[in-house]
Amino acid sequence: MFHKAFRGRSAWVAVILTVLGVSMAVAADSGPGTPAAVEWPARAPVARPAAWAPDGPLEQRARALLGRMSLEQKIGQMIQAEIRSASPEDVRDYHLGSVLNGGGSFPGGNARATVADWASLADRYYRASMTPDGDRPAIPVLWGVDAVHGHNNVYGAILYPHNIGLGAANDPRMVEAIGAAVAADVRRTGIGWAFAPTVAVVQDARWGRTYEGFGHDPALVAGLGESFVRGLQGAPAASDQLGPDRVIATAKHFIGDGGTDGGTDQGDNTASEATLRDRDAAGYYSALAADVQTVMVSFSSWQGQKLHGSRYLITDVLKGRMGFDGLVVSDWNAISQVPGCSNASCPAAINAGIDMIMAPTDWKPLYKTMIDQARTGVIPMARIDDAVLRILRVKLRAGLFEQGAPSSLMGKPRETFAARDADRQLAREAVRKSLVLLKNQNQILPLRRDIRVMVAGAGADNIPMQSGGWSLTWQGTETSNADFPGATSVYRGIAQAVTAGGGTAILSPDGSYATPPDAAIVVFGEEPYAEGKGDLQDLGWSTRSPKDLALLRRLKAAGIPVVAVFLSGRPLWTSPEINTSDAFVAAWLPGTEGGGVADLLFSGPGGQRLHDFTGRLPFAWPATTMPPKDPATTAFPVGYGLSLSATTGAMAALSETSGLTQVSRRSETVFFDRGPLSPWRVFLGDPMGWQTPLTATQATSASNYLAVTKVDHLVQEDALRAVWNGKGLAQIYLQSAGGADWTTLLKTPRQLAFSLKINARPSTTTILRMDCIYPCGASADITRLLKAAPSDQWLRVSVDLACFVKAGLDPRKVETPFLISTQGKLDIAVSYIQLEPVGAQRPTINCS
Ligand code: BGC
Ligand code: BGC
Repeated sequence: MFHKAFRGRSAWVAVILTVLGVSMAVAADSGPGTPAAVEWPARAPVARPAAWAPDGPLEQRARALLGRMSLEQKIGQMIQAEIRSASPEDVRDYHLGSVLNGGGSFPGGNARATVADWASLADRYYRASMTPDGDRPAIPVLWGVDAVHGHNNVYGAILYPHNIGLGAANDPRMVEAIGAAVAADVRRTGIGWAFAPTVAVVQDARWGRTYEGFGHDPALVAGLGESFVRGLQGAPAASDQLGPDRVIATAKHFIGDGGTDGGTDQGDNTASEATLRDRDAAGYYSALAADVQTVMVSFSSWQGQKLHGSRYLITDVLKGRMGFDGLVVSDWNAISQVPGCSNASCPAAINAGIDMIMAPTDWKPLYKTMIDQARTGVIPMARIDDAVLRILRVKLRAGLFEQGAPSSLMGKPRETFAARDADRQLAREAVRKSLVLLKNQNQILPLRRDIRVMVAGAGADNIPMQSGGWSLTWQGTETSNADFPGATSVYRGIAQAVTAGGGTAILSPDGSYATPPDAAIVVFGEEPYAEGKGDLQDLGWSTRSPKDLALLRRLKAAGIPVVAVFLSGRPLWTSPEINTSDAFVAAWLPGTEGGGVADLLFSGPGGQRLHDFTGRLPFAWPATTMPPKDPATTAFPVGYGLSLSATTGAMAALSETSGLTQVSRRSETVFFDRGPLSPWRVFLGDPMGWQTPLTATQATSASNYLAVTKVDHLVQEDALRAVWNGKGLAQIYLQSAGGADWTTLLKTPRQLAFSLKINARPSTTTILRMDCIYPCGASADITRLLKAAPSDQWLRVSVDLACFVKAGLDPRKVETPFLISTQGKLDIAVSYIQLEPVGAQRPTINCS
């Protein structure tokens, strides 16, 4: 049965196929760049094992191995494939140098894979790589993983505070201990390489990766980055450096990822070269002082040029001036962003100095093109030999040739994580040290343990929220407390403390109560995100999430003392929340050991103080919704943080003027940018259920007529691929309950634009629809477009909204701005769905 809007109205559509084309890729010059006259200091000398000497035994072995390798073997060593698209047999047949598992990628696709499952897959890759191949040498494969706050892709792993919290704690010895604990966990799963630490010197907290960095100050980043590397790898020249409980570390993302204009992920850092050196390079100099063995290149650009194409910065500066002799790895499909490149070909990046290419999915065509490019000299053999030598050097230093199967290092089978209790204590200590107390009116903290306390707010009993991105899944979304066995939520930690002290803790996320509690602890803040999906236009909190402020005000008005615990990956404008609360704690993203929060909020038995707040702000806290620039726009400066004993008088109220204009409410015109922008959500529909929300565990429509997966367009997983099997009518759409009013917006002629890739053309009529609360709506027949437009490439399609309005779309209540529906077979991908003013070119889809 067809829907009402499916019939009739398509006659007005004329499809223009000539203006298709994507203009979203960042244009950049791939030349070597014109360096300014800036001196980059050489690295400081570092103590090294004698065996690593330039003419020492490891170097001689590396050269001897290189001399026996075929071209195919060399190219294979330079490639890193993703475990979902490379089997052990592939590792053997293509001599792959490395595999990685991306965020949210697990052995067998099983999010609950055990330590033993991980190690046994590692063994299979290892054995495949060691398969004898005539007189060619066997080179052990190296597996890399984003262990960025604990071994965070692994079910049951302890999650430590994200780096921003470690920046607030600023305890180098503790960071080193955390690095060591994480390394031991990673090794127990058979993995030898961690893509950590991030040493971004973050300048603008609107960046979605702010929490992955330690802070704003180059010296802070340098100090903790060095400690993290020492923890992961072991100290330079120590007997256990790169030993069986250590992993190879990565300083990332080289260079200037934290300094892009506006905090745009993968954006452009326009700083001068002197600033790049004195600010953004701080963590590389210090990571080199800890002898970091790998460096990952940044997706971002410097002065308009993609780092992945910058021979000047990678080869001249990093490998030359800074004396880096380890391996340089590219970021996920990032080579394709260098002008003239694709995922499957990028001589410019390799010639710029990248040694290993993270080519998660398209590694096979890349392998072929690289072999051709080596044969024709597009990539000089000397460059290939240098890259492979670096890869062999790192593998030899890490002992890969001696250690045997990853699961049984030193003959000890490793089936579970190691020192659990000690590690939990360490993580809890890190939580305690990371919390920053911004307000403590009348010294309301610490609370006594024998009271009745209500724990309210969306974050009260929410492990995903307190862990943030890179927690089991890449985005940290689509999980629940059940996915984190052994974890302690903030509420649980409070309940333990209070119960032991003779009090009661009541969990009430919405803040309702029968009898007023003695005090309320309200835990709220950001939902998890990673990378560009976390980019913001402004730093406003109550402007985006008014419900938290409403809750605080309601409790306050009822005369209940209120303690706010704010979970966030960055400082945000929370002046109204701070004014309303008696105490305000910036808790960042503490991870699985929520007990560390209660440690600071409550006094011990008999009222004595057990711990104090020692965390200090690693970023200035904003006084407006824009990043702080000066005292007037700063609520609390870098380094601020109260201790319990500080007797502050009444704190002056902060200004509550957000200064936010309508214009910056991005979701009014942007519906899907790397993912749906709240309040918009993606739904699937077919006759068994017209409104199935798309989640990690539910990616098909109710009758399985339509299946959706995340695919890469411009960045990792920024597009949705939708495959209709032709067994019945099904649709994919974006919707926000109640709808949006576009009356004002449409005073300017606008088009709905989206990126589209046609993988398989439609077998029958396909409809593009917009609903003004179904059945109100209008539609256009896009079958001709889908049949005639170029396939297998990204196109930009635009639809004249005036036509939809003429055809019945009521602009006052647009609930579904984008819907595609067909009964037939169809395979497409879509992304970047937004409203934009009609420009010089006519929209692709027009009224006839
Ligand atoms: C991130 C890197 C990460 C890589 C592998 C990329 O999207 O930028 O930080 O190491 O994915 O997961
Ligand atoms: C479904 C509705 C859905 C709408 C999207 C309709 O076909 O019946 O449940 O909300 O599509 O506009």
